[in-house]
Amino acid sequence: MLKKIAISEVRTGMFVASVDGPWLKHGLWKTRFLVKDAEALARLKSSGVEQIWIDLSKGIDVAPPKETPSPSITVPEPQSAPTPRKRGSMADELDNAAQVLKRSKEAVTSLFAEARMGNAVNTSNCAPLVNDIVDSVDHNSSALVSLCRLKTADEYTYMHSVSVCALMVSLGRQLGLDDDTVRDAGMAGLLHDLGKAVMPQDIINKPGKLTDEEFAIIKSHPVRGYEMLLESGVDNERVLDVARHHHERIDGKGYPDKLPEDKISLIARMSAVCDVYDAVTSDRPYKAGWDPAESVSKMASWEGHFDPKVLQTFIKTIGIYPIGSLVRMASGKLGVVVEQNAAKLTAPKVKLFFSTKSGLPFEPKLLDLMDPFANDRIVAREPPENWSFGYLNDLWANHIS
Ligand code: C2E
Ligand code: SIN
Ligand code: FE
Repeated sequence: MLKKIAISEVRTGMFVASVDGPWLKHGLWKTRFLVKDAEALARLKSSGVEQIWIDLSKGIDVAPPKETPSPSITVPEPQSAPTPRKRGSMADELDNAAQVLKRSKEAVTSLFAEARMGNAVNTSNCAPLVNDIVDSVDHNSSALVSLCRLKTADEYTYMHSVSVCALMVSLGRQLGLDDDTVRDAGMAGLLHDLGKAVMPQDIINKPGKLTDEEFAIIKSHPVRGYEMLLESGVDNERVLDVARHHHERIDGKGYPDKLPEDKISLIARMSAVCDVYDAVTSDRPYKAGWDPAESVSKMASWEGHFDPKVLQTFIKTIGIYPIGSLVRMASGKLGVVVEQNAAKLTAPKVKLFFSTKSGLPFEPKLLDLMDPFANDRIVAREPPENWSFGYLNDLWANHIS
């Protein structure tokens, strides 16, 4: 399990899995190593790095807090290898994922249209779709999730539903949940924001920040969605729970019910993580999407929002450098992550395209960091805002299309 910690918490015996921040700043030769003695510890602490990822399967954890309240919700330990199911490559799954995505988008669009007209929604079409989404994710967990990333601000609401569905399925598998729960998680993801259908569309599509009054209105969408599902005859407790509780926070400051930690179910905790990750990485009418690796890193630094174990498991499913992330290599080249390697989160496939030494782009070149002859490695994520690459999405989208 990977965990993000502050540099002040580092102790000897920890295994560093990745270091945050530009290499030029910290100058560490290795970003994966065991902190084996006081000297290594001192070097790390004086490097100027503020946060690191440690791997708990290879080294020790931070000192436990004095009093750990007994958790009333137990998050299953992620299985070291999620149940293998007819796994395939991303390339193998893309055509099928594109078709599943097209059908899902149509289904969600018509569900939202029905809801907006005040009709009961007919969710019976959703069950077979969710089954297809589960199959796609089981075959290759990145294909559908990556295609969902290529959404425009206009189609955000519909694609976001499909994306959260696929992320929920993927996370559910990684958590080792049983088949029924995984399907419910997918269904819950697909329907979580149904309440947004009946929110004033000028607020949803407002290009700027909401006023307090506008936000107060939007905050009614979880309860509206919950009620609409109930009125439509949906009786799946997990689906209802997620519609109502995907904006609850473990510090009790969420909405609509301000649930305390011990009243928030595992599936609601999962939905909070999947919802926010897809939201912040997407272009929305009010905000451009963040880099995926930056999003993971930021989410891990927010106190009190997410269940840390659920977030950790989520990061295991999508990677520390998720697809689409801009990364800096030891060689000084920049690249975009185009595919994960399940065996090693810090060694994805990267499309290299720019030399920081010459300051010039070059013909994009694919590098699989698991290749034993790949004599380069990621040293850090690179903030895209430091550059003005207008074509980052094209780089990995070309890889998958
Ligand atoms: P959404 O755009 O789908 O965002 C879902 C959730 O992702 C947000 O819930 C929030 O927890 C997280 N999130 C999204 N963007 C950011 C961000 O820039 N920083 C941080 N820290 N978290 C972010 P939240 O805040 O309860 O908002 C619910 C919904 O209200 C949003 O769904 C969106 O439809 C709307 N909304 C929120 N703020 C604005 C805004 O400034 N302008 C507009 N037009 N809509 C907004
Ligand atoms: C924020 O940065 O908007 C707050 C982060 C959080 O939700 O904890
Ligand atoms: Fe929501």
